[in-house]
Amino acid sequence: LSNGLAKTPQMGWNSWNFFACNINETVIKETADALISTGLADLGYVYVNIDDCWSSVTRNLKGQLVPDEKTFPSGIKALADYVHEKGLKLGRLLVKSDQDRFSMKRMMQLCLPLGLDSNILSYTFEIVSDILHVIGNCRCLRNESTAYVVMELINDLYLHRYYVSIALKGIDYLKYDNCYNLGIPPKKRYPPMRDALNATGRTIFYSLCEWGVDDPALWAGTVGNSWRTTEDINDTWASMSNIADLNDKWAAYAGPGGWNDPDMLEVGNGGMTYQEYRAHFSIWALMKAPLLIGCDVRNMTIETIEILTNKEVIDINQDPLGVQGRKVYVSGKDGCNQVWAGPLSGDRLAVALWNRCSNATTITASWNTIGLESGIRVSVRDLWQHKTLTSDAVSSFSAHVDAHDCHFYIFTPSPSVSHSVE
Ligand code: DGJ
Repeated sequence: LSNGLAKTPQMGWNSWNFFACNINETVIKETADALISTGLADLGYVYVNIDDCWSSVTRNLKGQLVPDEKTFPSGIKALADYVHEKGLKLGRLLVKSDQDRFSMKRMMQLCLPLGLDSNILSYTFEIVSDILHVIGNCRCLRNESTAYVVMELINDLYLHRYYVSIALKGIDYLKYDNCYNLGIPPKKRYPPMRDALNATGRTIFYSLCEWGVDDPALWAGTVGNSWRTTEDINDTWASMSNIADLNDKWAAYAGPGGWNDPDMLEVGNGGMTYQEYRAHFSIWALMKAPLLIGCDVRNMTIETIEILTNKEVIDINQDPLGVQGRKVYVSGKDGCNQVWAGPLSGDRLAVALWNRCSNATTITASWNTIGLESGIRVSVRDLWQHKTLTSDAVSSFSAHVDAHDCHFYIFTPSPSVSHSVE
């Protein structure tokens, strides 16, 4: 989406993977503080994203979502001010629709105040008047087929009400979830929110969370700044690895302005080993995935900090060339030995040797699989050991990789030789 954002994948924190619904404004503020005190913010993790459960279970009389009075008593604007003062940005999840929306009583509540909100911009009135027109015969809702049409129009009304409230509350990032989607296909459902966000006049990162439904990579480049390519990740090796494979399929569609989103990081949540989290972080960086931390940053182990603050790996993810690396080679029993690679600025390559199985193994990246001519001399920098291993590798590079581990390198070819990753 060309809204000036997402030149490189977004970085920050999101509450869902660790906290789920156990959030409140204190957690969010303390997280913002911790992002600063740990140095994570300085490394680029600037979005503080409040996921589900910030809102009250019922809407206000205007049909708008409102913050839960008990857990977010100061409201979203106060939180936005808090994080903005620290140089961070506030994001929020929007789960649209609640099940009571379509009861007749609810419909009447919606019908009455339509068009009375002076905050709504003029073009909104066209939509409002459309709805008024339809609503003039609210009883049509009893007819299933027309009900669908009316519901869609109501959705648009909601969108426009939301954009006003979003703009007023200082939000910088909107993750638009796909729950209660009324069967409306994502391709149809997500563009109106893009327009609504655009109409706020505020630049807001737009994250599509349609769970990969409708192959978003094929159409979302003009709709959002990132789009989910899969269902939710969980904190296991199997889930993380499977999601990496699914996301890989869409590599060609990612680039500055719009990224494939294989879901948020699980690093630090306890379900994987240190090596497995290192593999997770390496592959997410190489795939140009959003780096949204999903653990409790107020209580991180040394190992978690080491992984999340690895600047050399972050730099791969944030490389200005913005090309998603891919799985380029698979070998061994059950496809255990894998090479993932992608081009970087300055004619360099990011190369990961990833052992997907439970026995240590030797994995080889040969120049032809990563798109180099065989005679080229390459300097190999190990991004986890933080050292240059050799400056004259020729035709291939091999390493012994522990079970479920991943070595991650920058290959810098000798000057004046051209190459490309297929
Ligand atoms: C589904 C999304 O995919 C998750 O990332 C999370 O936002 C939950 N919804 C929240 O309910």
